[in-house]
Amino acid sequence: ARFIALIPAAGGGSRADLGLPKQYADIGGRSMLDRTLDAFRASPLIDAVYVVLAPDDRRFDLATEEVRPLYVGGASRRDSVLAGLNAIAGSYGPNDWVLVHDAARPGITTALIADLIDACRDDAVGGLLALPVADTLKRASGQGDEARVGATLPRDGLWAAQTPQMFRLDLLRRAYAAAPDATDEAGAVEAMGHAPRLVPGSQRNFKLTWREDFALARHLFANE
Ligand code: CTP
Ligand code: MG
Repeated sequence: ARFIALIPAAGGGSRADLGLPKQYADIGGRSMLDRTLDAFRASPLIDAVYVVLAPDDRRFDLATEEVRPLYVGGASRRDSVLAGLNAIAGSYGPNDWVLVHDAARPGITTALIADLIDACRDDAVGGLLALPVADTLKRASGQGDEARVGATLPRDGLWAAQTPQMFRLDLLRRAYAAAPDATDEAGAVEAMGHAPRLVPGSQRNFKLTWREDFALARHLFANE
C-alpha cells in the first residue's frame, strides 16, 4: 500500500486574526504551511503530498512535483478533507493509506510520521498521534464573564488528538461521507464502530490557533 499525505489548508484562521489565513502567516521567514510541508517532503515513507486549498486561494506558491495543490476546500475542515479525498480517489487504491495533517501543526517531524506509520501500517483500522491530557479539566456552567466550574472531569485515560491521522482511503471516504459534523478523521471512523489506535505524539506538534501561538512557534521553530 502507498502512503499519501493530505494537508487541509483551506481555513480562514479567524481565531488567530492575523489579517491573512494563518497558513500563510510568517514563522521566522517562511510560511507556516511551508514549514508544515517540510516533514512530509523529507519523509522517505510518504509517496505523495496533496494540499487542500480554498478555491479562491491566490497565495499558494509551493507547488512542485512532490506537493500538489487541490483547490477544492469547503466550509469546514471535514468538507475540505472529504473533497480532497474525492479528488484523489481515482489515482489510488481503496487500501492505500491517507495521512491527514493540519497545516496548522508545523512542528510535525519525519520521526513522528514514522512512529505513526510503524504503529498503524499492520492495523486493520489505523490511528492518530495524540497526547495524554496533562491539565485538570473543568466543565463550565455559564459562559463568558459568567463562567463557573460546573464539574471537574476525571482525566484518567483522556488523550488530546493531534494529526496526522492515518486511515485507508476507502474507509475514510465512507466514514466522512456519513459524518457531516465530524471534527477529525478518527471521529468519523469511530462513528463506523471502529477503534483507532492512539500513538504518542509530541508537544512540539501543537496546533497554532491563537495569535500568541505564533509567538511561541517563532521561538521554537525559527532556527529550523
Ligand atoms: N481547514 C480547512 N478547511 C476549512 C477549515 C479548516 O482546510 N474550511 C484546515 C485549516 O486550514 C487548518 C486545519 O484545517 O490547517 C485545522 O483547522 P483550524 O485550526 O480550525 O484552522 P482555521 O479553521 O483556519 O482557524 P479558525 O477555526 O480559527 O478559523
Ligand atoms: Mg477552524
